[in-house]
Amino acid sequence: MKLLISCFQWTTTALANELKILGYKVFDNFSSGVYIEAEMEDVYKINLNSRIANKVYLELNHATIKNFDQLFDFAYQINWNNYIKKWHKINVSINIYNSQINSNKSTQSIVNKAILKKLLWWDWQRMSDPKKEIINILVQIIDDKCSIFVNTSWESLHNRWYRKETGEAPLKENLAASLIRMCNWYFKTPLLDPMCWSGTICIEAAMIARNIAPGLNRNFAFENFIDFDLNKFENIKKELKSKIFNGNYQITWYDIDPKVLESAKNNAKRAGVLDTIIFEQKDLKDLKKQENYIISNPPYGKRLNNDDMKLLYENLIKIYWKKSKGCFISSNERADRMVWYDFKIKNLNNNGEMVKLYIKK
Ligand SMILES: C[S@@+](CC[C@H](N)C(=O)[O-])C[C@H]1O[C@@H](n2cnc3c(N)ncnc32)[C@H](O)[C@@H]1O
Repeated sequence: MKLLISCFQWTTTALANELKILGYKVFDNFSSGVYIEAEMEDVYKINLNSRIANKVYLELNHATIKNFDQLFDFAYQINWNNYIKKWHKINVSINIYNSQINSNKSTQSIVNKAILKKLLWWDWQRMSDPKKEIINILVQIIDDKCSIFVNTSWESLHNRWYRKETGEAPLKENLAASLIRMCNWYFKTPLLDPMCWSGTICIEAAMIARNIAPGLNRNFAFENFIDFDLNKFENIKKELKSKIFNGNYQITWYDIDPKVLESAKNNAKRAGVLDTIIFEQKDLKDLKKQENYIISNPPYGKRLNNDDMKLLYENLIKIYWKKSKGCFISSNERADRMVWYDFKIKNLNNNGEMVKLYIKK
């Protein structure tokens, strides 16, 4: 079976490396995802284990398609009852490139019609219910080769279900994990996030250090598929839980705002890593140069005036020096002018917003 695994733009290499460590070979990739060949059991494993992926799509059918009649028959061949339940609201997204069929809107409407014709029980009234759970279908037509995928993850895998309390600009959990991977943090090395709010970076680092699979506390769309093997799934989870380590780590959370401490602790508790993180309220300006990893997501400047912002970035860059490693993420132009030769700069797409990743050389 072919899987399409999506991720944030520019984190594809980190995702491919993660999949390699999990034992999978990527046979193709694009700017925000990769393809692998795998079995249904791997769908369970990748959804449970991937820290970097957004969604795992399973290919249901593929063929060369050159017109809408062929597209309708092709979509109708799929046994949709195996994947779609009465409580689902169907969402069909389209991705077409260099093909004879070139209308997203018509493709979407034809695939929708084929699905509804196959689902004999379909009830139009239910379809408009806004409270219904969404099932995502992805139609990809590239050079006339069409694949229809179903999203096996349900909501994006960044949602590990530990972060109930967040600030105004929380970093997505899988982006935080990508930053940690991209700057090659090794779990025995001390790590500090000096501006941590809900604790995402520290929590993700602690989960990596302790080998806690990120998907253990959430549900997935594949649990509703007709051939879902509950026994197999429970056994995989049991094995993953048996591989959680306990050790001594130095992962430190600081923030200037005393009000956010309890929320960050609650998030860490839900993630099962409260005891793995050292929490302290501190102002960045009081920190000395750090010898180890600093990974951070400082304020971008929307709520601070220019002078405060300048000082904040000066203080942040001051704590990185020749002995420190790590990275920070920002869309504030000031950072560009301040970091020069000490940092390598990469572009990232943070949920539609272009941001820069500054990796300490
Ligand atoms: C963009 S938020 C971090 C969001 C975090 N990565 C998350 O996922 O929730 C920036 C944080 O920097 C903190 N901060 C601002 N100025 C600071 C300073 N001088 N010292 C320490 N923390 C500061 C703010 O309180 C805020 O929590």
